[in-house]
Amino acid sequence: MDVVILENAEAVARVAADHIEQVLGASAHPVLGLATGSSPLGLYGELARRHRDFGLSFAGADVFMLDEYVGLGADHEQSYHHFIHENLVSQVDLDPARVHLPDGLATDLAAECASFDASIRDAGGVDCQLLGIGSNGHIAFNEPGSSLASRTRPVWLTPSTIRDNARFFSSRSEVPVRALSQGLGTIMEARRVLLIATGAKKADAVAQMVEGPVSARCPASVLQLHPHTVAVVDEDAAAKLELSDFYRYSRRMQLQDGAPAWS
Ligand code: F6R
Repeated sequence: MDVVILENAEAVARVAADHIEQVLGASAHPVLGLATGSSPLGLYGELARRHRDFGLSFAGADVFMLDEYVGLGADHEQSYHHFIHENLVSQVDLDPARVHLPDGLATDLAAECASFDASIRDAGGVDCQLLGIGSNGHIAFNEPGSSLASRTRPVWLTPSTIRDNARFFSSRSEVPVRALSQGLGTIMEARRVLLIATGAKKADAVAQMVEGPVSARCPASVLQLHPHTVAVVDEDAAAKLELSDFYRYSRRMQLQDGAPAWS
């Protein structure tokens, strides 16, 4: 895993945008896997700015989202469907018909998940999967204990995730306790993975992901087995990495060589 440590969240957004821009430029029909939550907000803002100011185009791209809450329809303000439309789709030239999420209101949730995985395969697989990380080490909604080979499926959220998500809802009782989530096995099939993390609250999870054992205890640690993963983190999120000097050195060398965002 490449680890890029940057001074602050703005720099994380800029460097992550460089990675996405490179993926968009590499194919007429790029397939992006995107995330929700607060981590990607700066990145989506930066991508929208590049679209406005420099014509960065998403035309021809397909997007597959990581997850959706069970019980929330696409028009619910806190649905992930609504989130991505609000924060990215409406700001750029993405075709809304090419933005795919599992349906949190489906009557047969397992069938919905299987058909979501099939639609990723039909699109040719994901070129670049963007991820945030939960403070408990989850990616998408693969909570600790998830099978490292799991597929997209209905999952229950842990009390700590429900607590973390409560900030977006007016009362705790409204926070969904179930979601449809891409599995760890599904995520691992993406050709590239770009994980972003900012803030001290993520420091333990980032350290476990990068330097801990590969274990369902920290689901993100499965990314150690992925051949093309870049973790772009700020100083606070990197604070508990033991090998941070080496990651900084590697990054300096990479920049000296003039390597592109994805080398
Ligand atoms: C979002 C997702 C989650 C978040 C994670 C971090 O689609 O699947 O795994 O990436 O919970 O959330 P934030 O970015 O809000 O700290």
